[in-house]
This record gives sequence, C-alpha cells and structure tokens, in this order.
Amino acid sequence: MKNVMRISVNRNSKIPVYLQIRNEIRELILSKVLEPGFRLPPERKLALTLGVNRSTVVNAYRELEADGFIESHVGRGTIIKPLSSQENTRTPFPDVQPLVWKDFYNRLSAQMYNPILNSVLEQIVSEEIISFAAGVPAYVSYPAQAFERIFSELMQNDQWHALEYSATAGHYPLREYLSKFMRSRGIQTKPENILILSGSQQGLDLVAKVFLEPGDTVVVEEPTYLGAISVFQAAGARVLSIPMDEEGMRTDMLEQVISHHRPKLIYTLPTFQNPSGISLSPERRHALLQLAYRYHVPILEDDPYGELYYEGEPPLPLKAMDRHDHVLYLSTFSKILFPGLRLGWCVAPSAVIEQLTLAKQLVDLHAGTTAQWVMDRFCRQGLLERHLAQVRKDYAQKRNTMIEALEACAPPGFVWNVPKGGFYLWCQLPVGVTATSLLNKASEKRVAFLPGNACYVGGGGTDRIRLCFSRYTEETIREGIKRICMAMKEIMVKQTGLEGKSGKEQGIKPIV
Ligand SMILES: Cc1ncc(COP(=O)(O)O)c(C=O)c1O
Repeated sequence: MKNVMRISVNRNSKIPVYLQIRNEIRELILSKVLEPGFRLPPERKLALTLGVNRSTVVNAYRELEADGFIESHVGRGTIIKPLSSQENTRTPFPDVQPLVWKDFYNRLSAQMYNPILNSVLEQIVSEEIISFAAGVPAYVSYPAQAFERIFSELMQNDQWHALEYSATAGHYPLREYLSKFMRSRGIQTKPENILILSGSQQGLDLVAKVFLEPGDTVVVEEPTYLGAISVFQAAGARVLSIPMDEEGMRTDMLEQVISHHRPKLIYTLPTFQNPSGISLSPERRHALLQLAYRYHVPILEDDPYGELYYEGEPPLPLKAMDRHDHVLYLSTFSKILFPGLRLGWCVAPSAVIEQLTLAKQLVDLHAGTTAQWVMDRFCRQGLLERHLAQVRKDYAQKRNTMIEALEACAPPGFVWNVPKGGFYLWCQLPVGVTATSLLNKASEKRVAFLPGNACYVGGGGTDRIRLCFSRYTEETIREGIKRICMAMKEIMVKQTGLEGKSGKEQGIKPIV
C-alpha cells in the first residue's frame, strides 16, 4: 500500500496545483488503486514530498472530502471512504475533456454510414408500416415447423458438435450439399471450393478486404445493389458504373472503361438483378467473360435470386460459363429461404477460398455452427427443393398481384418492369414526382419503398423506386400499392392541379 500513492504535479499546467492533486487522488480511488480504509499521508508530509505549500494539500483534501471520497478523524488521520454508490464512478468530472470518438476513427470509416440501408433494415421489424423497401422473402412461407423439429432432433442427438466452435471454411456436409446444389445451376465445383459465409454481404466485405486497396477501381453496372456500393466505398475504392439497358450491363461500353481504368474487380448481378429485375443476355454474358479474360480482371458474380424464376429456367450463371476461373460466385439462403440464420456461400478457386477463409477468421472465426448444422439437415431432407418449388409459384402470383394493383390505380407516367424472377418491380415515376417527395408523402400513409437513388453511385435514380413484391400477402400488397398511388396522385395534384397531367403512358415498359 505504501508505494501506491505515486502522484506528481505539473507546474506548467493551467490546472491549479491543488486540483491536480485532487484529480490524481480521485483517479487512484476510482480505479481502486487506493482502497477504502487507506490512510492518506498527513498534509504536511505530502506537501513536503511534492514540494508544495501545506495549504495546497489542505485544499485538495477539502475538495475530496466535499466530494465524499475521504473523511478526516482527529487522531486517525484522513481515510478513504467506501465508494457508496455507482454514482461516484459515473459522474463526469468537469475538468476531464470528453473523448470526441470520431477524431479517433480511421479515414475510411467515414464512408461506412449508409442511412438508407439502415432505415430499410429497421423498417423490416415495424408492423405499422407496409414496407416494400427491403428485399425479403414472405414470412408466411418460413418453414418454422421443420426448423423446430430439426433443431430439437439435433439437440437430442448431436448437440455437443452443433454447439461448438467449428472450422472457418464451414460445416463440411453443408459445403458438400451446396456443391451438389451448385451443379443444378450448371456450376461444377467441389466442397473445398465453397466457403460458408455469415450472409453473402459478408462475402462482399471479405472480397473487398482481400482484393481492394484504397484508390483501386471497381466496375459495377448501374443501378446496382446498394449494400455492395457501400462495401466498395468503405474499402476506399473508386466505384465506376456502366449503364444498363433491357439486356443488362452495356458490355459494349465496358472495354473502354477497363482499358482506361484497369479495375481490380467487376461486380455484377447478372440474373434477376437487384434492383432492375433484368437478366444479362447470353451474348453479353459471353462478352463480359471475354473482356475479363482479355484484361485479367476478376468478376464478382452476386446471385441471390437465380433460383427464384417464374417463367422458364433461369440463365446460366457466369460461373457456369467460366472456363478460366475468373469468376468468384456469391449466393445466399437469405432470399430463397429466410435471412435470419445469416448463411451464404462463395464458390471460388482454391487459392481465393484460402485467402477469404483467412480474412473471415479475423472477422468472426466462422459462421454460426448451429445454424449450419440445422440448415444442412433441412437441405438434405429435400426440404429446400420443396420450399423453392412452392415459393416460385407464390412469388409469381405476388408479382402479378402487384402489377394488377398498379394497373388499377397508378397515375399516368408511372411505368414498371416485369421481371422474370427475383423480388422487385423497378419503376419510373411520373414527371415531376421525385422518389424523395414520394417517400415523404408515403410515410404519412404508413407505406415505404426503396428510393432509386440508393442504387446509383454518383447521382441519378431520383425518378425511380424499387418495390419488393415477395414479402406480403396479396391483400397487403394491394393496400400498400393503393397508398403509394394515392401519395403520388396527391403530389401531382398539388403540382399541376390535375391528377396525372404528365403526358406519359402508364404501365409496363422496360426501364433501367
Ligand atoms: C444483391 C444482393 N447481394 C447481397 C445481399 C446480402 O444478402 P445476405 O442476407 O446474404 O447477406 C443482398 C440482400 O439484399 C442482395 O440483394
């Protein structure tokens, strides 16, 4: 105890010496270096040790006594009191400057904030708002009973393994199942070439961590998935966009961008694209791969929606057409089943899987073991295939319902795509109605959607909105669309005095 009271004073400080002494003793008490019952040195002795006047120490002790830290007893000296309540440790001291945390963040974390992504995720749990904003499956379709049964069987038989830490690359049987599942999409791969992810969003982040340095260029089609834009920007990359038409990314414009900017990566959603619903044509798939081979650029293919097709078979993934291992492929259970278990996967050449696995280890060691075991059993019992067959029918119906509802009440000038798969109607607003003004008006009516500008890199999309049709019952879809159309008409009446004086047609039209 004797040596613990090491304090010093700084005569050049603007803080008076008696307060410096008080502060130091107070910190020693609060950090429990000096314990209750400890006797402080007599004032004269401490004054001598520190080379200050006795009155300076007297004043310091008075302050400490007034704050309830010490008490003086004639004959017993000055004793530290027990810390009576949490209050003492929580009260901020006026002389300690609060930390301005953002001054400590690194340069790139300023780019992390994405208010739209944030609010979309928050709205999902709100039951008061009809939100067509988030891309989520229909919760009425969630196979809760099957998962309950599988989970309880697991707990009875193998709980020791299922509740443990596990290998970073993922639960091997699930990787094995996925390698077979991938074959049904035309992708020939082995379990060793599959990395299980905590959602495919993590795949985007890991690829960015492994491949990108600040200043590198990433090429994307535009519009694109807002979560990917955020990841690449947070990695400090320069994101360049290639426009789309009804056949997907304009590959005819790509070569010039590649040869000028030498991107590190081309990110694309070639099948039932988010947000446009468009699929890249077979010719352009071929052209894209040829450019990647010619210029040695890896392609990151994001394919969460390929299994959700409503009119004939979906196109072959780029990964299935790739003869020279230039494509890294991402997919997820989030859209084909449900997102809460946070399970996705990546298919890639062995060297890349190795590197991504190392990166993943640093982030979360591995995806949830229990989730992987349960998912593996669900899939192996043939329940994923059965579920997919059902939701393909349901979502086709919901898409048609949303279109019917729009046909019934959308004002002239409001036009939309009819996607052959996926979750979204991509819509163009009537002249003069912006996504932001509509979002404000719609929120008064407790309905939401994704404003198009969230899907653009450098401006644009202010006259577009994305509507997710998969989530709600047909009744709720009709109600939500009615409210959005009402909101639109109110804005138009206010602007022109007339409902729908846009001079444009209403209905179906390829838009990108
Ligand atoms: C294109 C795309 N990629 C990735 C994700 C992220 O999905 P996950 O839930 O697997 O992280 C989404 C989710 O909306 C998406 O639309």
